[in-house]
Amino acid sequence: MIHFTCCNEEYAGDLMELIRLFDSRVDGEFSLDVNYSRSARAFSVTVRSDKLENFSKKFIYPVKADGDLLRKREEKRFLKMAIYNSLVFLTGVRLPYGCLTGIRPTKLYAEIESSPEMYGKSAREVFEEDYDVSPRKIELIERIVEVQKPLRNKSERDMDAFVFIPFCPTRCAYCSFVSLPLDKQKKLVSPYVDCLLRELEQTNELIKSKNIHIRSVYIGGGTPTSIGVDNLDKILSHCHSAPEFTVEAGRPDTIDREMVEMLLSHGVNRISVNPQTFNDATLELIGRKHRARDIYNAYALVKGKMDVNMDLIAMLPNETFDDFKRSVDMSCALAPENITVHTLYMKKGSRLKNEGFEDAGFDLASRMVDYAYDKLSAAGYKPYYMYRQKYTSGNLENVGYSKPGHECVYNIDIMEEDTSIIASGANAISKKWEADKNLITRCANYKEPLEYIKNIDLMLSRQADFWK
Ligand SMILES: C[S@@+](CC[C@H](N)C(=O)[O-])C[C@H]1O[C@@H](n2cnc3c(N)ncnc32)[C@H](O)[C@@H]1O
Ligand code: SF4
Repeated sequence: MIHFTCCNEEYAGDLMELIRLFDSRVDGEFSLDVNYSRSARAFSVTVRSDKLENFSKKFIYPVKADGDLLRKREEKRFLKMAIYNSLVFLTGVRLPYGCLTGIRPTKLYAEIESSPEMYGKSAREVFEEDYDVSPRKIELIERIVEVQKPLRNKSERDMDAFVFIPFCPTRCAYCSFVSLPLDKQKKLVSPYVDCLLRELEQTNELIKSKNIHIRSVYIGGGTPTSIGVDNLDKILSHCHSAPEFTVEAGRPDTIDREMVEMLLSHGVNRISVNPQTFNDATLELIGRKHRARDIYNAYALVKGKMDVNMDLIAMLPNETFDDFKRSVDMSCALAPENITVHTLYMKKGSRLKNEGFEDAGFDLASRMVDYAYDKLSAAGYKPYYMYRQKYTSGNLENVGYSKPGHECVYNIDIMEEDTSIIASGANAISKKWEADKNLITRCANYKEPLEYIKNIDLMLSRQADFWK
């Protein structure tokens, strides 16, 4: 346990995340006290600890940032570097992403690439020398940044549309997303669909009046296909068309021939059929209520008719390296256009977290994720987007792989934050991107479906004001 004190409360929350990552890897207790001061040209940090006798180290960094916001970012960066270096010295532990704790390492890398004067060196040098990101993770990040370059959004007028469907057949043990199990909450589907249709009508008027070009529509969840053909048909009839149109079906047990025909009739050209694992015992354990054979059946219905994504999760409960390897190999053999490899994270609200499930450790997580990277790369897939979550096994990441030419631009846009997103439904967060300031502002609908339904008029007027 690391007892951390920082002279500035404002930064303590962010820095705690880094401390927590070390905490989960070391035994024993020790203190870590951080103080800093700033002059016009230098930022100096002093770190002290009782772990080694009189441990006290001073770090001095040259100040470059101008303006309040940039100055805060720079200060946090220096503090993280000083704390990380001290903890590596005190514990002997190094982390795969070094001192980086953020969700979007590729966005950061691309930003440094485009303004090296701010850092005084190349993005690669900053990641290697200042942040201590491992060579393997730098390779991953650089490959993703390279694949994304021609696909990044270039115009404020090009936007995405997102629609959230908060229902699932049952609740998976690891899931902390907003989602209502249909066996208990079916009665909410119809009022939810009615409210969503009202919001989509408003969205369509906005798109028309502002002459917006929609580059991608993403129907996410939850499990959008779990609400049945008729309900989803109504929703899709109210959606704008787009060159890329994804339905995140997810659960293979919600896809049949009638559903596929309806999706195709609306121009849907991308779908998720998510195994998570091909191991039936694990599927039972995590409460998915479908079996490996359902994955094959659902896949056979959509293969060749639209691009298919398959989600997998490394470090599912009781899974060995061989279980995960088999899931990667099976997905690879089916050859969908996209495979997304998540690493298990445990957040509040998931059954696994509530039941105190302990994950099987850092080394296994790394072996699994490295295997997926090597196997998929050798099979011709390229990593094209990534994000990190708090409380992830091995402090690792989630990576979307794609066959070249089949990358999902919505996934890139949401992670790189350079596109406005008009979002509808409960839990939906609209994002407005201002290119000249490179700034994102947000407007969130109520998270819980019942609250969304009860307050639909407020949701509509909030969204209308936001996009004015
Ligand atoms: C928003 S979920 C929706 C997908 C769909 N409902 C399904 O489960 O097939 C997207 C993906 O996030 C991943 N995911 C969800 N919870 C996770 C967790 N706790 N750890 C790792 N990955 C997780 C799963 O791979 C899931 O398919
Ligand atoms: S993982 Fe997917 S299917 Fe499972 S509860 Fe979460 S959103 Fe629903």
